[in-house]
Amino acid sequence: MKESSNQIGDVPSDFAIDEAEVELRKSFFCFGEQDANYLKSLHDPFTRNLQQRFTNAFYAHLQHFDEPRELLADEDTVARLKLSQSAYFHSLTAGDYGVEYVHGRLKVGVSHERLGLSPHWYIGAYCQYLTVLLPEVWALFSDQPERFIATWQALQKLVLFDISLAMETYVEAACQRLTAEHDRVELVRHEAQSHAERLEQQAIEIQRLSSIIGLPSTAITARFYGCKTLHEDNPDIFETFSTRYGQLLDLAVNAAKEKTDLKLDKELRALVDRLGLLKAGPRDVVEIHSVVMKKKLAEPTQHSQLYLDEGRVMAFEMLGYLTSFYRKFYLRPHDDSSVAYLTGNNTTSQ
Ligand code: HEM
Repeated sequence: MKESSNQIGDVPSDFAIDEAEVELRKSFFCFGEQDANYLKSLHDPFTRNLQQRFTNAFYAHLQHFDEPRELLADEDTVARLKLSQSAYFHSLTAGDYGVEYVHGRLKVGVSHERLGLSPHWYIGAYCQYLTVLLPEVWALFSDQPERFIATWQALQKLVLFDISLAMETYVEAACQRLTAEHDRVELVRHEAQSHAERLEQQAIEIQRLSSIIGLPSTAITARFYGCKTLHEDNPDIFETFSTRYGQLLDLAVNAAKEKTDLKLDKELRALVDRLGLLKAGPRDVVEIHSVVMKKKLAEPTQHSQLYLDEGRVMAFEMLGYLTSFYRKFYLRPHDDSSVAYLTGNNTTSQ
């Protein structure tokens, strides 16, 4: 079975059990025509004297246990159950055990699996059939021991046959769930891999761009810091920058999601100025960007693509601001306007 319908009680269409398969299975259970006849001989006495009594006793037994009882919470359900159970009991000795019978049993298994009934309750309940019916069969054939044994064996075979079909539906359902879970994990893994590749690509792009626009090379920047990146030199400050970058990225993604126009250039520029004062370089920008993006993409979000797109734009903007910063404060001689800009007293920020 590869897929199943969502309707309770539907037999999944691709259970590959045709007539030949039914015969093969029955012959494995040593269940033949003669067994069907023995069971048929129980039909009249059972349906006349026992069906109702058995059904009531069956459900009275279930009511003694918490998990089954929870499924029998309302009277309508119990009424439907009794009808279903009665019909099941009826078909057990009806004498017809072909494809239709098998599909009916699979349907019952599917129903119980979808109800969430654990298999041990389900199989355990068949014990009621075997224990309650034994004295009933004995009462009918106590004067014919051989007939009693043959009839009892036929009933046992059929009950076990039914259990095997019901369990098949449980196993198939479990396989389906595992397959679905495996597919989900694969999808997540695939997405994570493609995000990682895109992040790597973005980092390369940023590095390339920074060398084209003439930002101080990583080596020069690193020298200011005794060959250390900002992250290595001061993880706490790095964390502060990353947190702020993450907040700005969230704002940008929310704005993109809601299709509103949001300008974050002032906030980004302020962030970059502080980075520039610490002589951070493109490598630090790449690192902040990568760390934040990895966190964002690892969160359960529907907006990974937006994060990738907005993050890329923001990282490039930061590089642009960093270039301006370096031109202004390191590559050109300092002047008063630069100092005013850095101390927040400027009126002509660029
Ligand atoms: C010998 C074991 C059992 C047999 C032969 C059996 C038989 C059936 C049948 C034939 C149906 C109707 C299924 C359908 O229409 O697709 C049914 C439904 C149901 N059964 Fe069982 N059952 C068994 C064990 C249990 C147990 C242990 C519980 C525990 C509470 C249970 C609870 C139910 C419930 C809640 C429904 C659905 C009723 C509804 O809402 O229509 N069954 N059962």
